[in-house]
Amino acid sequence: MKMPGLIQRCGGFLGNPSGSCPKSKLADIPKRGWPAVLGCCLWLTGVLCAQGRIAITVQTDEPGANISSTMWGVFFEDINFGTDGGLYAELVKNRSFEFPDPLMGWTTVRQAGASGTVEVRDADPFNQANPHYLRVNAADASAGFGISNEGFRGMGIRHGADYRFSAQVREVAGSALNLRLELIGSDGRTLAHGVLGGLGRSWQRRTAMLHASATDAKAHLNVLIEGQGTVDLDMVSLFPKDTWKNRPNGLRADLVQMLADLKPGFLRFPGGCIVEGRRLPLRYQWKKTIGPPADRELNINRWNDEFKHRPTPDYYQSFGLGFFEFFQLCEDVGAEPLPILNCGMACQFNSGEVVPLDQLGPYIQDALDLIEFANGPATTQWGARRAAMGHLQPFHLKLLGVGNEQWGLQYFERYALFAKALKAQHPEIKLVSAAGPAPGGDQFDLAWSRLRELKADIVDEHCYDLPAWFLDSTTRYDHYERSGPKVFMGEYAAQSVKTVSPENRNNWECALAEAAYMTGLERNADVVVMASYAPLFAHVDAWQWTPDLIWFDNLHVYGTPSYYVQQLFSLNRGDVILPSQLTGTPLTADRRPRFYATASRDRSSGDIILKMVNASTVPQVASVNLAGTLQINSTAKVIQLGAQHLADENSFDRPLLVSPSTKAVKLPGPRFDYVIPGSSLAIIRIKPH
Ligand code: AHR
Repeated sequence: MKMPGLIQRCGGFLGNPSGSCPKSKLADIPKRGWPAVLGCCLWLTGVLCAQGRIAITVQTDEPGANISSTMWGVFFEDINFGTDGGLYAELVKNRSFEFPDPLMGWTTVRQAGASGTVEVRDADPFNQANPHYLRVNAADASAGFGISNEGFRGMGIRHGADYRFSAQVREVAGSALNLRLELIGSDGRTLAHGVLGGLGRSWQRRTAMLHASATDAKAHLNVLIEGQGTVDLDMVSLFPKDTWKNRPNGLRADLVQMLADLKPGFLRFPGGCIVEGRRLPLRYQWKKTIGPPADRELNINRWNDEFKHRPTPDYYQSFGLGFFEFFQLCEDVGAEPLPILNCGMACQFNSGEVVPLDQLGPYIQDALDLIEFANGPATTQWGARRAAMGHLQPFHLKLLGVGNEQWGLQYFERYALFAKALKAQHPEIKLVSAAGPAPGGDQFDLAWSRLRELKADIVDEHCYDLPAWFLDSTTRYDHYERSGPKVFMGEYAAQSVKTVSPENRNNWECALAEAAYMTGLERNADVVVMASYAPLFAHVDAWQWTPDLIWFDNLHVYGTPSYYVQQLFSLNRGDVILPSQLTGTPLTADRRPRFYATASRDRSSGDIILKMVNASTVPQVASVNLAGTLQINSTAKVIQLGAQHLADENSFDRPLLVSPSTKAVKLPGPRFDYVIPGSSLAIIRIKPH
C-alpha cells in the first residue's frame, strides 16, 4: 500500500532539534496544492527547523490512565443493506415469499414457449412462522416454466466458485419431475446449472451445488420445472460455499475480513434505530432471530421507507443473521459483544410509542433471558438454546445496551426499571444507557444529570456533524467529571454536507477531522471507554445513509479514509496513556491550532506510540521529547495516512488511494524533530531498549 509519493518525501525526521527559533510562519503558507508544498517542504527542512515549532513532551515514566481494550470498536446496524444483501451471504431476496408483496424479487420464466402458473399459498405450509410458499404449475412438458429471483440488486457470482442451492420442495402433481437450476449472467449467459430430481410428495429440504464458469455482479437464479406437473417451493436459497469460515447460513467472507482487519474491541449490534422500530410491534426482538433460519419471522426493515429521497421498498429483515450469529461474529473477530435492546420505546423520530411502565416486564425479561442465552450453562432454558445452535461454551457477555438513542423523562423511568432488575441479578454486566441523538443541548444535559443520579455505568453519546465540529471538540472530554458514568462515543462520523444529506462524501477531510477528534478520546481514556464510527456498511446500489465506513457491491468491498483512521487507532491503541504536553501550535487561517497529539504505551511490546494529526494544510515540524529514564531503540516505525487533496476518496477503482504507508526510521535519540505533512495523520511507534 503506497501513500502518494509527495507525502512520503515530505514527512520525516529532521534530526536533533536546534536551539531557540523565532515564531513560525508555517500556518501562513498559502494552500498551493501538493507540488507547491513539496517545494516548500524541501525548503522547510532547511528553514523551518530554525523557526518556532510545535513541541510535544511525553512523560514516558509516568503512565496515566489505562486505555480500555474496548476503546475502538464497531457499530453494526442493518441499514444500507448491511445485513440482507450485505454481510449475510444469502443471495436470494424474499426467499420465504413473506414480503407483503410475496412475489417481490421474483418473476415467472417461460423458456421456449413453456406455459404455466404460479400461486402464493399458505395452506399446509412447511413452517407456521413463515407460512407463505409458492405453488408452481408447469402446464406442459417443455421444460422451461418456472421462477427467477433477482437477488439483492443482482447476485454476485464468481468464476470457479461453488454455490449451494437449497429449498423446501414438495411435488404436488405429476411424476418424476425435476427442478432445473440456472445461474444466468447479466448478458444472458448461463454461468452455472444443476438438476434436482426425486422430489417427494411431502416437504423436503433439497440441496444442489452449482459451479460458476464466469464472474458476474448482477446474475440471477432460475428455478424451472422439467416435466408437466406442480411443485411447491419455499425457503429458496443460494449461498456461496465460501462463506466466512465456510459456515452454512454464513456471512460474506470479504466483508467479515474488513471487520477482522480492524481488530475491533467491541461489536455493537443490531443498531441503531433498528432496535427501536418505527412502531413498537416492529421493534427488533432478539428471540425471533435465533433457532433454525426458516423459523425466524420476517420483519420490515425500518429504513425501508424512512427517507423519501432514498426509498428502498424491498428492504426487509430475514434475521438469517440473528443474535446467535452476531455473538459468533464477535467471537471470530475478537470483539466484546455489545447487544442493544429495545427499552419499551419505539423510535422517537417516528411514532415514539412507549410501553406503559407497568407493562415493561416482558421487555426486561428479554434482557435477562439474553444474558442467560449468552452466558448461561446448557442446563438453563436459554443456555440450552445456545448449545442447541452449536455453542456449548458461553459467549462471555459483559456489556448490554438499554435502548438505542433515546431521550427524555420517559427513557430514564424505563432505564431505571431495567437497571434495577438487571443489576439485582447480574451486577457483573455493565449497562450502556443513552444520551439522545445530539452531543449537547438541553436533552443531552438532562440525560447526563439523570443518568449520573441513576449511577449509570456507561453513557452512549452520538454525534453527526461537520468536520469543523470534530476539530473544535478535541478537548471536549478534558472537561468531563472524572468520576461517575463512563462515556461510549457510540455513533459519530464527520458529515461533509450535513446529517442525512445524500450528498455527504467519505472524503479525507472528514476522516482527518475524525482522527483529530479521536486523539481527544484517547487522551481522555479515563473517561471515554468505547467509541465507534457509524454507520458501518453500505451497498453502493441500495444505501439510505451516507457517509459510511465500508462500501461494497455484490462482489467487491473497499474501506473509506475513515476506515483506515479507525484501523490505525485500533491497531496502535496502546493500553496506558502517557501524559503529554503540546505547545507552540501555530494558528491556521481560521485562528485555530489545528495540530493534535496523544501518546500511549503498549505494555506487551513496551512500544511508545505517538499519534499526531496535522489538520492544517501545510507541513508542521514537531519537536518530540520522550522525557524520562526510558532507553529507546534507535529504529522506530512510522505509519502515515494522508491524501493529495482533502476531497480525495477511495473507490472500487482506487480502493487504496487514501490508505496507510509504513516505514522504518532511525531516531537520533529521545529528542527528535519530525515533519508531519499538511492534512495528515502520523503514528510513530518507538521500541524501548
Ligand atoms: O447510524 C444511523 C442512525 O443514526 C442510527 O440508526 C441512529 O441511532 C442514529 O440516529
